[in-house]
Amino acid sequence: MYPLFFKTFFKRMDAEKAHHLAFNTIRAASATPGARTSVRAVAAPSYPSLRVKALGLDLPGPFGLAAGFDKNAVGIDGLAMLGFDFVEIGTVTAKPQPGNEKTRLFRLVEDRALINRMGFNNDGSAAVAARLARRTHGHRTPYRPNTVIGVNIGKTKAVPESEAIADYVTSTERLAGHADYLVVNVSSPNTPGLRNLQAVEVLRPLLKAVREAADRTTDSRVPLLVKIAPDLADEDVDAVADLALELELDGIIATNTTISREGLATDPGYVRSLGAGGLSGAPLKQRALEVLRRLYARVGGRIALVGVGGIETAEDAWERILAGATLVQGYSAFIYEGPLWPRKLHRGLAQLLADSPYATLADAVGADTRKAENA
Ligand code: FNR
Repeated sequence: MYPLFFKTFFKRMDAEKAHHLAFNTIRAASATPGARTSVRAVAAPSYPSLRVKALGLDLPGPFGLAAGFDKNAVGIDGLAMLGFDFVEIGTVTAKPQPGNEKTRLFRLVEDRALINRMGFNNDGSAAVAARLARRTHGHRTPYRPNTVIGVNIGKTKAVPESEAIADYVTSTERLAGHADYLVVNVSSPNTPGLRNLQAVEVLRPLLKAVREAADRTTDSRVPLLVKIAPDLADEDVDAVADLALELELDGIIATNTTISREGLATDPGYVRSLGAGGLSGAPLKQRALEVLRRLYARVGGRIALVGVGGIETAEDAWERILAGATLVQGYSAFIYEGPLWPRKLHRGLAQLLADSPYATLADAVGADTRKAENA
C-alpha cells in the first residue's frame, strides 16, 4: 500500500513538505487515544527476544530513528507508536536558526537515497529543553513516557569555530538533564567547518568540556557519544576510536551522511544540479559498514557502537550487529518504506536471531568482525 501511495502522492511533492505532512499525520494519530492504540497494535508488536541493554539503558529493541527527522522533539510519542525502540532528536544548536535556504532536501528514488543540506534548522536548545521538560514534568503525561531519547547537539552556524566549545557547552547545560544519552555531532557536511572538529586535537577538548558540563548539570551520568562522518580517512577513524577510549566515552555513532556521489544510478547531471549536501540511504551502506567494522576492531566491546547509514532491511541491521553495532538507526529508508518499516525490520530481525547460533542479540554483536580477525 505505502509504495503505491509514495509513487502517486509523496514522490510528486517537495520532499520537505512531504516530510512535514507525514510527520504531522503521525503526531496527530499519536495524540488520539483510539488511533494510537490501534496503530501501535499493528505497527509495534513486542519482540522480547530483541530487548537489549546498551549505554546503561534497557531498550525494547535495538532499532532507533536517527537524528534529523525530529529535530525539535515535537513527535517522540508518534515515532515510538510506530515502533522505533529509541528516538534521537536534533541536531539542536545553542541558538535557534532557520537552516539553509529552501529547496534543501532531495530524493534520488532510483538509488533509494536522499541528499540534504538542511543546515541544522531548529528551535534552539532553550526551546527544545523546555519542550522536553514539559514531557517529564508537564500536566499531560506523554503517551509513552519511557521512550529512550537521545539528544544530538551541534554548533550554531553563526558562531565561529574558535567559540564552538562554548556553544556545545551551552546546549549541554540546557539539555543533558533531559537526555537518556547525549551525542556530540561533528559530522554534518552542511555547517561550514563543523567536520574540522573531528580532528582529535580539537575533538579532545570539545568532548572533555561537554562531559564536564553534563556532569555539572545532572547527578546521573548521562552517556556521551560522538557521531562521525563516513568521509574520514581510515587513520582518522582509528584516532577517534582511540580518543573515545581515552576519554571513556560511552559510544560512537557511525555514520552521518557522505559528501561522496560515487556509485549512484541517478543521472550524474541531475545529481550535480542538486548541488551540495549530505547523501544518505542505500549508497552509504558499504562505507558506513566499513567504518563500523574498523571501529569494532579497535574498541571491541569496550564501548557501544551505533550503526547507521543505508540500513533498510532486517538483513542490513543484522549485518551491522554482527559487524559490531549494539544499536542501529535509520532515516532514509523510512521515507521509502513508510510507517510499517519498523515492524518489518523487527519481525525480520527476530527471525534472523532465532535462526542464528546466538541466544541473544548481545551474543551476536561483533561476531563477524571477531571471526575475520581470528581467521
Ligand atoms: C540527517 N542526518 C542528521 N544527522 C545528525 O546527526 N543531525 C541532523 O540534524 C541530521 N539531519 C538529517 C536530515 C536529513 C533530511 C537526513 C536524510 C539525514 C543524518 C542521519 O541521522 C543519518 O546519520 C544518515 O542519514 C544516514 O542514515 P540513513 O539515512 O542512510 O539511514
